[in-house]
Amino acid sequence: MQDHRSFSAPDLVRFAREVLTVRGVPATDAELTARSLIQADQRCIYSHGLLRLPLYSEALRLGGINPTPSMSFCAQKAGVAVLDADAALGQVAMQAAVDRVLEMGRLQGIAAVAVHNSSHYGAGAFWSDQLAEAGFLSFLTSSTGPVVAPHGGVDKVLGTNPLTLGAPSADGWPLTADLATSNGAYGKVIAARNEGTALPEGWAVDAAGNPTTDAVAAAEGSMIPFGGHKGSAVAVLLEAFAASLTDATFAFETIDIWSNPASRMNNGHLLIGIDSSAFAGRVRTEARVAELQQQVRASGPSDRRVHSPGDPERTRESEAGDSIMLPASTADQLAQLADQLSLQPVPSHT
Ligand SMILES: NC(=O)c1ccc[n+]([C@@H]2O[C@H](COP(=O)([O-])OP(=O)(O)OC[C@H]3O[C@@H](n4cnc5c(N)ncnc54)[C@H](O)[C@@H]3O)[C@@H](O)[C@H]2O)c1
Repeated sequence: MQDHRSFSAPDLVRFAREVLTVRGVPATDAELTARSLIQADQRCIYSHGLLRLPLYSEALRLGGINPTPSMSFCAQKAGVAVLDADAALGQVAMQAAVDRVLEMGRLQGIAAVAVHNSSHYGAGAFWSDQLAEAGFLSFLTSSTGPVVAPHGGVDKVLGTNPLTLGAPSADGWPLTADLATSNGAYGKVIAARNEGTALPEGWAVDAAGNPTTDAVAAAEGSMIPFGGHKGSAVAVLLEAFAASLTDATFAFETIDIWSNPASRMNNGHLLIGIDSSAFAGRVRTEARVAELQQQVRASGPSDRRVHSPGDPERTRESEAGDSIMLPASTADQLAQLADQLSLQPVPSHT
């Protein structure tokens, strides 16, 4: 069991905002990015929470991420847009993409924004939740740094190519599948390496292609796609969806900011939104999705809880409230960051 420390969410938001502001990020963008990271921690998706803040800070300092991008939309057809994010924080690029998809989707019924020149956007559900809130179903994927070998391979041709699918629901919680297409998220390998803990079996191979549970060997080797050959096929296609519609780079062409924070990753994202009100109607869709969720939850034997996708994260978020438990290694890194930037450290409650 990892060692954790408790913090207040508003304190963490304030701290993350301060760090980003010191690095030149305007207040609104700093607030957005801080909220995306802290919501991930609230949902215990520690791989996409404040663990990333020191890395963002360094990339902002060294030029891998542009604190004040001049983003522009181009190549538009009805319902379609390409966003050049000018090396923005991925969160800033994605908020622009979400806003544009909602705007176009309300007119067209379906809309897509492909993004290039972007960076890491955090947990995908932060974006699909916004579309679900507006009655939209959504598809989102991204290219990343090179960390995953295709099924049977050793070379890091792929990224962790996240797949996020969301559907609005009358249940209150959207139906959400939000996952890395590697067996685990890369951030979880980084977290395990920081914590000195082992990885689950089947997540990674070492540099020679042998299965390993050692997080250090895994970081030097490759991660493996989820679901054997089928998952690998999906991951390869997501790479194409994320990076072939624009000038974004594929993972195998990308230098990750984890290895060089000055690198402009040129990540690609693809967001597609489908407005349920353009089909059988939002009320009908949301009622049907809620029915599906209930059937999924009720599908087990009486002594076993079955989750509808998205429920585990929402349950953890509502249980956490304003009190966030962070892995000790992340807490230590935030303390170091405070020291480095001469900021007030975030007080821990335990
Ligand atoms: N920005 C990026 O470039 C990037 C890259 C990779 C991953 N990510 C993010 O990493 C995060 C974590 O990914 P992961 O693969 O480690 O997620 P995970 O394995 O923890 O969960 C994946 C999905 O499975 C669902 N789930 C979990 N347990 C379940 C159960 N018992 N029954 C039914 N459904 C269940 C969850 O609700 C979630 O939708 C995601 O938020 C993803 O967007 C982002």
